[in-house]
Amino acid sequence: MDPMPSRRTVVITGASAGIGAAAAHRLGRREDTRLLLLGRDPERTRRVAEATGAEHLIADFTELDQVRTAAEQLRQRCGRIDVLALNAAAVHRHHRRTVDGFEATLQVNHLAHALLTELLADLIGAPQSAGAAVVVTASRAERHSVLTPPLDRRRLEGGDHWCPHHAYAASKLGNVLYARALARHRPTLRPVSFHPGVINTGLASALSLRHRFLYRSAGLVSPLNVIDGGDNLVHFIDGIPGRTWQPGVHYDADRTRSRLSALASDDDVAESHWRLTRQMLGLTPEAGTGEPSTVPAAPQRPLIDS
Ligand SMILES: NC(=O)c1ccc[n+]([C@@H]2O[C@H](COP(=O)([O-])OP(=O)(O)OC[C@H]3O[C@@H](n4cnc5c(N)ncnc54)[C@H](OP(=O)(O)O)[C@@H]3O)[C@@H](O)[C@H]2O)c1
Repeated sequence: MDPMPSRRTVVITGASAGIGAAAAHRLGRREDTRLLLLGRDPERTRRVAEATGAEHLIADFTELDQVRTAAEQLRQRCGRIDVLALNAAAVHRHHRRTVDGFEATLQVNHLAHALLTELLADLIGAPQSAGAAVVVTASRAERHSVLTPPLDRRRLEGGDHWCPHHAYAASKLGNVLYARALARHRPTLRPVSFHPGVINTGLASALSLRHRFLYRSAGLVSPLNVIDGGDNLVHFIDGIPGRTWQPGVHYDADRTRSRLSALASDDDVAESHWRLTRQMLGLTPEAGTGEPSTVPAAPQRPLIDS
C-alpha cells in the first residue's frame, strides 16, 4: 500500500521504451504521483524505473498468466489505481500463436490489456479515485484494418491471410473498439483512446528490413518525436475526464477528436468485439447481455509459422 495515500496512482504498460518510457520520464518524481511501470524486459524496465523514481513490475503479455500475476501484484501494492495507461504493443514478423493459443499481436496489444483492465476494474473504479481513467494508446493504423463484420475469432486473428501490418491494424482497431465498449459497460473507468502520432520508436524492430523501412520512413518524415508521443500520453493521464477529454472518444495526435474508420465507429461492431474479447478471455458472461460463455478455439497452427 502507498505510504503516501494522498498521491494519485498511475500504472503504465509498455513503459520500458518509446512513448511509455517518455511519459514515465515526464511523470517521474512528481510529488503528487505514485508511478508504477509495467515492462517486459527486466533490465530496461528497471533502468527507466530508477531514472524516474518509479516502482516497476515485469510481465510478458504473450503469457496471460504473467498478466494475472502482475494484476495480483498491483492489487497487493495499491489500494486504488487512478489511471491505468494501456500502452504496450508489439508488431511481430511472423505469425505466432502464444501459449494461451491466441495470435500473438492480438494478445499483446489487445487481449492482455483487456484482461488486465478486467482484473483491476474494482481498484480503478474505487470510490476514492475521483479522476479515475483508463487511457488506451491506440493508433491511426486502425484505419488500415481489412476486417469486415461480422467479427469472429478467426477473422480477428488474421485467418489464412495473416501479415504483420494487418495483424497490428486489427489489434489497434481492437484498442479503439475496446475503449468505446468499456465506456458503455464500465462508465466509472472513464476510458479514452488516442493516436500518439507517427514516431520513430523501436516498435517495428522485429520486422523484415522492407517492413521496417516502411514503418521507420513514416516515423522519419513525421514532425513528432518520442518526447511528443510521451507528452500526448501524459496529456490524457493528467487530463480530467469529462473536461480535458470525453470518455469513449478517440483522439488524434493533435488532441482533437479523431475521425474513425466506419468499422471503429460502429456501435454494433464495438459491442460484438467486446463480447468476443470476453469470450476469448474466458471471462464470466455479463448478466442480461445474452453472451455465450465460450468461443470456439481457433484451428491450431504451429507456434511460429512464417
Ligand atoms: N511509434 C508510433 O509511430 C506509434 C504510432 C501509433 C501508435 N503507437 C502506439 O504507441 C504505443 C507505444 O509504442 P512505441 O512506439 O513506444 O513502441 P516501443 O518503443 O516498441 O514500445 C513498446 C513497449 O511495449 C512493450 N512490449 C512489447 N511486447 C511486449 C510484450 N510481449 N509484453 C509486454 N510488453 C511488451 C515493449 O517492451 P520491451 O522494451 O520489452 O520491448 C515496450 O515497452 C503502442 O501502443 C503503439 O501501438 C505508436
